[in-house]
Amino acid sequence: MAETAISIAPAGALAHSPVTGNASAPLLRVKALQINYGESQVLRDVNLELHPGTITALMGRNGVGKTTLLKAIMGLLPARKGEVAFQGKNLNGLPPEKRARAGIAYVPQGREIFPKLTIEENLLLGLEARPERLKKIPEDEVFGLFPFLAGMRKRLGGNLSGGQQQQLAIARALLGKPKVLLLDEPTEGIQPSIIDDIEKVLFGLKAKGDIAVLLVEQYLDFARRLGDRYYIMERGTMVQSGRTSELTEESVKKHLAF
Ligand SMILES: Nc1ncnc2c1ncn2[C@@H]1O[C@H](COP(=O)(O)OP(=O)(O)OP(=O)(O)O)[C@@H](O)[C@H]1O
Ligand SMILES: [Mg+2]
Repeated sequence: MAETAISIAPAGALAHSPVTGNASAPLLRVKALQINYGESQVLRDVNLELHPGTITALMGRNGVGKTTLLKAIMGLLPARKGEVAFQGKNLNGLPPEKRARAGIAYVPQGREIFPKLTIEENLLLGLEARPERLKKIPEDEVFGLFPFLAGMRKRLGGNLSGGQQQQLAIARALLGKPKVLLLDEPTEGIQPSIIDDIEKVLFGLKAKGDIAVLLVEQYLDFARRLGDRYYIMERGTMVQSGRTSELTEESVKKHLAF
């Protein structure tokens, strides 16, 4: 059977690649972004588009710059060149808390919940980014997605298993009612049953149609099941993008296999 062609375009050309089946304007657009750590250039000429109601998988081997891109979108690292635009507005210079209030949520790699705070306190922090002021946890919203949290409100975050902490981190991010959700390797080091639960929640989010998810993922099957589109990074730049259904084994071997 003939392999489906995947364009290996120069990074600059990816910005113009059509997002087939998605006529809407992108909710978030990264254009020709360059990020440095000191003198070392870690991202160069990175382009990416995220659309509501879709999950975009960002893949690539260790150290290629996936986390750096998420941090840059969140405003945790300044752009040396290029821009991050959200709803058509350039966000350059806007601090992370303002980006959070604008509707961008970030679940970092390794989850980073507050271990010494209770689950309830961790969740309350998620309300800070919410557009309307809310002092109480909207229980149906959170516990509908993650029922196990309901009975554990007073437990310390640090006492949860790694997988439960990941779910707590996702729940906290969703309490801000984000329009863009950035997830950095949510399945890393997590037991299969919890990966299944997280997958269901992400499918549910996608079905709602209003959130754009950027999923950094090295677990290929998970990325393939959930992702509508994918981008592959190598050494700080995008080398491929396309529909996840068209990702070939050849590409996987070339860019993703260890
Ligand atoms: N704070 C930092 N200071 C200097 N260099 C850094 C810093 N953080 C990351 N780097 C370097 O930047 C590059 C990209 O790192 P990044 O964490 O974005 O990669 P990644 O694709 O998320 O990797 P992984 O799959 O291991 O999570 C790597 O070479 C890394 O060593
Ligand atoms: Mg990373």
